[in-house]
Amino acid sequence: MSSNQAQHRAREILVRYCKRLPKIELHAHLNGSIRDSTLLELAQEHDQRGTISSYPNVREIILKEDRSLQECFKLFDVIHVLTTDHSFITRITKEVIEDFAAENVVYLELRTTPKSNVLTGMTKRSYVEAVLAGITKANLVLCENHQLHAHGIQVRLLLSIDRRETTDQAIETVKLALEMKSHGVVGIDLSGNPVTGNWKTFLPALTYARQCGLPVTLHCGEVHNPDEVEEMLAFHPDRLGHACVLQESQWERLHNLRIPVEVCFTSNLRTGCVKSICDHHFAWLYKTHYPLVICTDDRGVFSTNLSSEYAIAATSFDLSEHDLFELAKNATRFIFAEEPLKRHLDRIFAGVEPNYR
Ligand code: IMP
Ligand code: ZN
Repeated sequence: MSSNQAQHRAREILVRYCKRLPKIELHAHLNGSIRDSTLLELAQEHDQRGTISSYPNVREIILKEDRSLQECFKLFDVIHVLTTDHSFITRITKEVIEDFAAENVVYLELRTTPKSNVLTGMTKRSYVEAVLAGITKANLVLCENHQLHAHGIQVRLLLSIDRRETTDQAIETVKLALEMKSHGVVGIDLSGNPVTGNWKTFLPALTYARQCGLPVTLHCGEVHNPDEVEEMLAFHPDRLGHACVLQESQWERLHNLRIPVEVCFTSNLRTGCVKSICDHHFAWLYKTHYPLVICTDDRGVFSTNLSSEYAIAATSFDLSEHDLFELAKNATRFIFAEEPLKRHLDRIFAGVEPNYR
């Protein structure tokens, strides 16, 4: 076998292993995780109705590769025009869950920004109800095909606050999350274009969430903004998304705080938050046994999946299969869902561990 063939074979084995591995996904945006084929279908449907005339080149926008961070947010604007119907929201939720289940994700914490739209009669509440309907539909389909998904997939929801929103809109989202707690909403996320707005606008809402017992995760350090990073660390959220651009003293501070970091390789590289995989802070986090979890961010927008992200960790940082298993297993420590579910996930990993040594 030539060395090229051997490399190819090793890669195949690794990818198969990563797919088979039970995994925990904690940072996935619903509208960033839609299949390209579904987006194109929705675009066609809107085109026939004449509801996307302001985007004549919608196909090219959807299919473009290598987007900058700002181009990603242009794409999100297009996606949000395509997903303004309740039935579309239900459909994409169902499909996204099926896609994660197909690669052995056993726990998915899906996040999405509740949106209102007067034209389609959508309110933040009806939006979340449409998402919940999608979760129910996915569960039904997956139950029927349970032999394909040995461990099943548990889905919980985080409601996101978009950095374009006002304080009152953010508080409305937190109140909605509290009302929907018994339906599987387990926390709050702050996301959106990192160069937009001031995160302090959302501090009252985030503080309120915390006071009411809702865990909070913040998108942090996607761009150079040391003051914001400083304030976010002082807030001490339950998890941090990305945490790419920190100053020397802030890395030290983070190290002591031990706030779990949601690491998203492909997203960070595609958006330029990290220059190259060799510069990725995963190396330092991993070496120092820092709490972290590997995630996708936007599997649709960045054409990735969780298995590939694990494979990237293995090839880029020389991790063994056993190291990957430990990473996947440890991620159960950082979920926002209730303790019994954590124990259920621990049992899944304990049950399969002998096969992964
Ligand atoms: P949605 O909340 O389901 O509509 O998912 C898309 C939204 O997630 C975007 O409009 C952003 O607000 C947020 N988002 C997705 N990816 C990123 C990211 O890389 N940085 C910050 N926000 C993001
Ligand atoms: Zn994100």
